[in-house]
Amino acid sequence: MTMYDSSHKKTHRLKALVLLASITSLGLFIDYLLEEPLLPNVNQSEILGFRSADRSIREYNINISDHIVNTVFSQVKHSAILSQPLDITYGPDTKMYKDVIKYWREKYDWRTREVYFNQYPQYTTIVQGLQIHFVHVKPETSNKTVPLLMLHGWPESFAYFYDIVPQLTSGNGDVSFELIIPSLPGHFMSDPMKDRTTVHVATLFKNLMKRLNIDRFYVFGQGVGSFIGTDMAILYPDKVMGLYNTMCLSLRKISLVKYASRNNC
Ligand SMILES: *[C@@H]1O[C@H](CO)[C@@H](O)[C@H](O)[C@H]1NC(C)=O
Ligand SMILES: *[C@@H]1O[C@H](CO)[C@@H](O)[C@H](O)[C@H]1NC(C)=O
Ligand SMILES: *[C@@H]1O[C@H](CO)[C@@H](O)[C@H](O)[C@H]1NC(C)=O
Repeated sequence: MTMYDSSHKKTHRLKALVLLASITSLGLFIDYLLEEPLLPNVNQSEILGFRSADRSIREYNINISDHIVNTVFSQVKHSAILSQPLDITYGPDTKMYKDVIKYWREKYDWRTREVYFNQYPQYTTIVQGLQIHFVHVKPETSNKTVPLLMLHGWPESFAYFYDIVPQLTSGNGDVSFELIIPSLPGHFMSDPMKDRTTVHVATLFKNLMKRLNIDRFYVFGQGVGSFIGTDMAILYPDKVMGLYNTMCLSLRKISLVKYASRNNC
C-alpha cells in the first residue's frame, strides 16, 4: 500500500510540475511575443555622404541637356525588342515592351514632362553630408496652414503626389497644407545612402525639416515611405503630430505571428 501511495504521489507531483512548467513556458512565450523592440540607437549628426557642410537651400529646376535627351531617345529609337523568354521566371515579358517602346518613340515628349515636373518649386540642400532634393509648396491663402511631409514609395518619385497638390494647398477648406515632398535617398537628385536603413532616412528627413525651420509636422507615407514615416513617429514623437500610412506595419513579434497565420505562410 505504501509503495502504491508514494508512487501515486510522485505521479501527482510530476504532473503538477509539468503543468507548472507548461504554464511558465507559455507565459514566457506570450511575453516574448508581446515584447516591444528596442529603440535603435541613431547618431543624429552622423555624416552619411561626401558633401560639404554647406547649409544653404538652392533652387532646383529640371533642365536635362539636349545632348542627354537626344542620346537617350536615339537609344530608344534603335533598341531591338528582345526575344520572348520561354517563361517569365527567366526574364520580363518582352511583349509588353513593344507597347512601351512604341509609346516612348511616338508619344512621349520629354520637354513637356519637364515643364510638368517643374510646375512646383524644387530645391536641394545638404543634410548629414548627403544632397537631398525636395519639392516645397506653400499655400497662397489659408486661415490655417499645417506642414505635411509626403514620402513616396518604391519604385516611385516625388511626382507621384503632383495630382493631389492643388487639393491640399488650395486653402478652400479651413486648413491647407504646406507640402514638403523629398526624393528618397537614391531617387532622382537625392544622394544614395550605403548600408543604411529606414531609421537613418527617418533621421535624415527630421533634419531636413529642421533645416526648413519646421518644428512640428504631419507625415504621409506611401509604400516604403510608410516605413520611414513610422520610424519618424517612433523616434521623434515630439516632432511628428500625426502619421498617415498606406502600408501599416508593426514589428512586435505578436503582429508577425498574426500576419503569418492570416497569410498561411
Ligand atoms: C556622431 O557623428 C558625428 C559626426 O560624424 C561624430 O563626430 C560623433 O562622434 C558621433 N557620435 C557618436 C556618439 O558616435
Ligand atoms: C535649360 O538650359 C539651357 C542651356 O543650359 C538654357 O538655354 C535654357 O533656357 C534652360 N531652360 C530652362 C527652362 O531653364
Ligand atoms: C477664413 O478666412 C476668411 C477670410 O479671411 C473668413 O471669411 C472665414 O470666415 C475664415 N474661416 C474660418 C473657418 O475661420
